[in-house]
Amino acid sequence: MPEYDLILRNGSIIDGTGAPAVAGSIGISGGSIAAVGDVSGDATAEIDVAGMVITPGFVDVHAHDDAAVVRDPRVDFKIMQGVTTDVVGNCGAGNAPANDQFRPMYAAGFGAILGGDGEIPWRTTAEYFDAVDAARPACNVAAYVPQGVIRMNVMGSERGRPTDEQMAEMKRLVDDAMQAGAIGMSTGLIYVPGAYTETGELIELAKVVAEYGGIYTSHIRNEGADVMKAVAEAIEIGEKAGCGVQISHHKSAGPGAYGLTKETLPFLAAARARGVDVTIDVYPYIASSSSLAAMYRVGRGAAFEGVEAIVASVKYNKEKYEGRYIRDIAADLDLPIKEAVAKVLQDEENTPSVIMFVMDEADVRRVISDDHCMIGSDGLPTDGKPHPRLYGTMARVLQTYVRDEGLMTLEEGVRKMTSLPARKHRLGDRGELRKGWAADIVVFDPATVADIATYDDPRQYPAGIQYVIVNGEVVVRDGTQTEARPGKMLRRKATGA
Ligand code: CU
Ligand code: ZN
Repeated sequence: MPEYDLILRNGSIIDGTGAPAVAGSIGISGGSIAAVGDVSGDATAEIDVAGMVITPGFVDVHAHDDAAVVRDPRVDFKIMQGVTTDVVGNCGAGNAPANDQFRPMYAAGFGAILGGDGEIPWRTTAEYFDAVDAARPACNVAAYVPQGVIRMNVMGSERGRPTDEQMAEMKRLVDDAMQAGAIGMSTGLIYVPGAYTETGELIELAKVVAEYGGIYTSHIRNEGADVMKAVAEAIEIGEKAGCGVQISHHKSAGPGAYGLTKETLPFLAAARARGVDVTIDVYPYIASSSSLAAMYRVGRGAAFEGVEAIVASVKYNKEKYEGRYIRDIAADLDLPIKEAVAKVLQDEENTPSVIMFVMDEADVRRVISDDHCMIGSDGLPTDGKPHPRLYGTMARVLQTYVRDEGLMTLEEGVRKMTSLPARKHRLGDRGELRKGWAADIVVFDPATVADIATYDDPRQYPAGIQYVIVNGEVVVRDGTQTEARPGKMLRRKATGA
């Protein structure tokens, strides 16, 4: 029997910790990294990766592939950009637990945005995790328990405070999810019903998460002019509940808020200095993307005034709406912007997603350069023309912010996609190239790696990513995805955290 299943020879090894690259090889055996550096011995297969870098597999800390990993387990859009672990359940949205009250709300609401068809075959979080394993996705999956979903299960879309009974039931569902292996709890505080949830209620739920060593991650209540208040709320929840905090897709959005990251980042650093474990993530684009209906709800369409926006995916009127600027749709319909959006929502039964150009590049650069910022795509696995971040996020960081702009070293860029997220989310033996650790690995050419996806033509794989290995199996070979689907559900307990 050969000593190794596979040896990657003659690469430049970037271990994920931020340490400088070193020349060497990697030996893989039984799904684990068996040797790093000088690898002698024979192998069933060898690949010469001279001229390329070998890094840990990328962790996408902000994914919305909750339904996609079950329904479309090849998850080509993630695998082909080097993502070996997808973190789902973000922004308070997800598809478990799912009682009879939640099911129709999901089908009529965010089901489409998570890559589903509206159907949910499971009821509990544990059953959802089992369904992910049974689907054999190409990448590993870790999940937050989504607070919006918990509240829908217990209170529907009711405003106001929960009764003592409702609060107890929500805590029980969060506890149930943490027991099943969720890595923490997420919130989406601009969405219904997250927006109806007061800070105190979130602290109560986060205390349950803290008991298990999970983290609180949040699409905060305001990412515009009031972003500082919203960041403060997230920190307060972490401090009072006693758990780590992650601020999702950190930004200051809208012309009135440009530059506010100059205040939020030092504010976060100050919290860290007094012992709060708070980190952030970002997607490397100036355009956001979300549900058109949810964005419309913010000020009944006011969010679209004076903002360039594209309808990304629709159900019925593809020609008329899909991939088109809202201002052009409004001109065609001869309607003011707000009314045009209302008409699209009506024609499409509230299902479209939208892309909005609401950020300043200077803020994106500032956030991505922060030492405590990791990378999360926030990609929406919809039909139609999704935001290109679904396909291009990781490559774009390596191409634009590492190579072209030199905002960080390659080693640092890799750290933001590997050890930084893996440690924060307690993924155990992942995120670094270390002997004995899981063999989740990417091999790419740092000189040519490029994000090819565009707003107009988003379904394009990045260039330059040659090999991707998940749990020791090759899922991308010579730049082409294989049939292998070796991913598994990473349950918090199973990872020893
Ligand atoms: Cu999100
Ligand atoms: Zn979000």
